Amino acid sequence: MVMNAIQNRKSVRKYSNKPIEDSVLKKILEAGRLAPSWVNVQSWKFIVVTNPETKQLLYEVSGRQQQVLAAPAVICCVADLSAWEKTHFGKVLQQKGVDEETEKFIVTSKLLNPSLLGEYETLLRSVEQLTYAVSYMTLEAQELGVGACIVGAISNELTHKDDNYAQQIKEKLNLSDKHVLVELLTLGYEDSKTETKKLRKPFNEVVSKEKLGTNY
Ligand SMILES: Cc1cc2nc3c(=O)[nH]c(=O)nc-3n(C[C@H](O)[C@H](O)[C@H](O)COP(=O)(O)O)c2cc1C
Repeated sequence: MVMNAIQNRKSVRKYSNKPIEDSVLKKILEAGRLAPSWVNVQSWKFIVVTNPETKQLLYEVSGRQQQVLAAPAVICCVADLSAWEKTHFGKVLQQKGVDEETEKFIVTSKLLNPSLLGEYETLLRSVEQLTYAVSYMTLEAQELGVGACIVGAISNELTHKDDNYAQQIKEKLNLSDKHVLVELLTLGYEDSKTETKKLRKPFNEVVSKEKLGTNY
C-alpha cells in the first residue's frame, strides 16, 4: 500500500472545482500529526486555508504560482520553534513517561535540544521534523485520491525574499516570530488524470554499499 502511494504520487498542480470534504482533509492532516519527530517534539503546526482572500495572499507569497490559487484547500505547513522550549518540550517528554531526571538531561543537552545551540539550528531541526509530516500528508492524499503539490518557493525567513508578503501572511495566519511558514501543501482533485512520470536519478547513483561510490 505504501509503496503504491510512493510510486503513484506526483505533484498535481491542476485541480477540478470539486471541494475536498472535511473528513478527507482531516485524514490528510491526521497523517501529518502522526508523523515521527526528534524526541517526539512535534515542532509543527498545520493551518488549513480555504478562504479566497487568504488564498490570494498565499498566491502572492508563492510568487504567483497558479496551483496555490486554484487549490480548493491549502495547508500552511509551519515550523513551530517554540516546541523546543523547556515548557513544551518537557511536556511531551512527560507524556512519553520520561522521568524528571531524564527530562532535564534531554532538555539541557545540546545534542538533543537544538534551541541551546541557537536560532539557526532550531529552525533547521524544525524544518527537518516538518518534512516528515508533509511527506506523510502527501502520501495520505495520494491514497485518498487527492492531488497535492508541495510549494516551498515562498516569501519567508528561509528565502529572504525582499517583499512584504512574508510579513502580511504571518499576520493573517496569526504566526509569531517563533513560527516559520516553511511551505504550502496545495490540495485538490486532479483536473484530468495525467500519467505519472518518475524522473529520478538511477538507483546506483544514489545508493552505495559500505562507502560512497560503490554499487549495491
Ligand atoms: C520541499 C519542496 C518544495 C517544492 N516547491 C515547489 C514549488 O514551489 N513549486 C512547485 O511547483 N513545485 C514544488 N515542489 C515539487 C517538486 O518540483 C516535485 O516534487 C519534483 O519535481 C518531483 O516531481 P513529483 O513530485 O511529480 O514526483 C517542491 C517539492 C518539495 C519537496
